[in-house]
Amino acid sequence: MRPDLSERLLFLRSFLAHPRQVGAVLPTSGRAVSDMLDLADLGSARLVVELGSGTGSHTGPVLDRLGPDARLIAFEIDPNLAASLRARFSDPRLRVVEGSAEHVVTELAGEQPDVVVSALPFTSLPQGLGKTILARAASVLAPGGVLLVLQYSPFIAPELGKLFSSLQRRICLVNVPPAFLYACRDPKTVQDPTA
Ligand SMILES: C[S@@+](CC[C@H](N)C(=O)[O-])C[C@H]1O[C@@H](n2cnc3c(N)ncnc32)[C@H](O)[C@@H]1O
Repeated sequence: MRPDLSERLLFLRSFLAHPRQVGAVLPTSGRAVSDMLDLADLGSARLVVELGSGTGSHTGPVLDRLGPDARLIAFEIDPNLAASLRARFSDPRLRVVEGSAEHVVTELAGEQPDVVVSALPFTSLPQGLGKTILARAASVLAPGGVLLVLQYSPFIAPELGKLFSSLQRRICLVNVPPAFLYACRDPKTVQDPTA
């Protein structure tokens, strides 16, 4: 699904208000989203969690791939973007959580997602927050689950290697800027950095 002009403007406004939190001037391209989602089996997933949904570049395609009884829980910290997601997607399988992805453990209350999808800008988030969110995302995954990560640089790879035994990598050039895609499996047992 191609973002329309109003979504692009909303995204740009959010970037101008919080550049380090949004981390990009444009939503992720449809091609990068598709390449990323191809790295997991969303059709078999019962529960998917999205971290940093923005204007919904991943939300729509994830819903398109999910089965009728599966669910998607989407975290978005920006109230305007969260409201726009709720208005845009009336799908009963979707729950939008307006709040920080760092609360993923408490929000899920013991539920274990098969897939976590993240386009959070880990390298520009406040010091330590990115590592905390990644460790918590790894800790909530169901057995055999996968964390999908999109970044605009490869700097996150060592951190992902500390948390996961298996990393699959891909680059999508059809995105501004090019997107580094990771599918992370087999989480190691790692202490929550803030615990
Ligand atoms: C690079 S944008 C990605 C948006 C969308 N997923 C895409 O690919 O176009 C990052 C998004 O993460 C959101 N975000 C940043 N920090 C967050 C946090 N701690 N918890 C939840 N969302 C956050 C931003 O508001 C922004 O919408």
